[in-house]
Amino acid sequence: MIDYDSCVDFLSRKIADIPNTLMILGSGFSKYASTMKIEIEIPYSEIPGFLLTTNESHPGNLLVGEIKENRVVVMQGRFHFYEGYDVKNIIFPIRVFRLMGVKNVILTNASGGISPDCTPGTLVLVKDHISSLVPNCLRGQNDERFGVRFPDSSDIYSKEARNEILRRCSALGIEIKEGVYIQTAGPSFETPAEIRAYGLLGADIVGMSTACEAIAASHAGMQVSCLSCVTNYASGISKTPLTVEEIDDTIRNIYPKLETVLTEMVDYFSLRSE
Ligand code: HPA
Repeated sequence: MIDYDSCVDFLSRKIADIPNTLMILGSGFSKYASTMKIEIEIPYSEIPGFLLTTNESHPGNLLVGEIKENRVVVMQGRFHFYEGYDVKNIIFPIRVFRLMGVKNVILTNASGGISPDCTPGTLVLVKDHISSLVPNCLRGQNDERFGVRFPDSSDIYSKEARNEILRRCSALGIEIKEGVYIQTAGPSFETPAEIRAYGLLGADIVGMSTACEAIAASHAGMQVSCLSCVTNYASGISKTPLTVEEIDDTIRNIYPKLETVLTEMVDYFSLRSE
């Protein structure tokens, strides 16, 4: 059995007043932590049960602090299936924070664009996902503390939250789309044939994370939102081989907009939780 309680005890001693919202910063997003007034910083290596990030663009720090006067918990770096980790361990932090009282999760990621309108630099609010290419994180004995055996999955990415974020972006003149994300196992980027298949299945964007975290959070009754930044044309659509440098460059270029949208998302969830 996974030991959530030791981690909850450890973090409860460090964080007296847990914020309502958790944000997980994906590839290229870790710079967003610099907008925070940081109260607490704990390396993952000190937290019982947390895995270690092995990807350079995922620093592996847990931060608690304020973003424009809204308090949040921020995971600066996530764990991935391609790192060799089991999905149960990847979702461990989500469940720990749920036990500590966190109600909302903001997920972020970089993705490849499959749909013609998902060109590099496009911001996408995830409205649904396809996660069938990786094992389901709820497989195995159900822990009733979190949720039911067979959870509904028809509104994982809260429609209410999406509508409000779209409204705020429109008021700020920031273009943002909604789309379906497909999670692959990675770490190899997809083949052109896979991308053609995923497009036929209904995916607009592709990446190597997120859906399993969204399933765990939704199962545990948390409100979930996900902001994806399309960093490259997906394989076969792109005329050049894919590299992680391209991903970092695109995020760097779009960063100011991305920061504004994330801050709006934090504000929305903070107000919602009052
Ligand atoms: N494929 C998978 N993951 C990704 C991509 C991609 O094209 N871009 C950013 N993360």
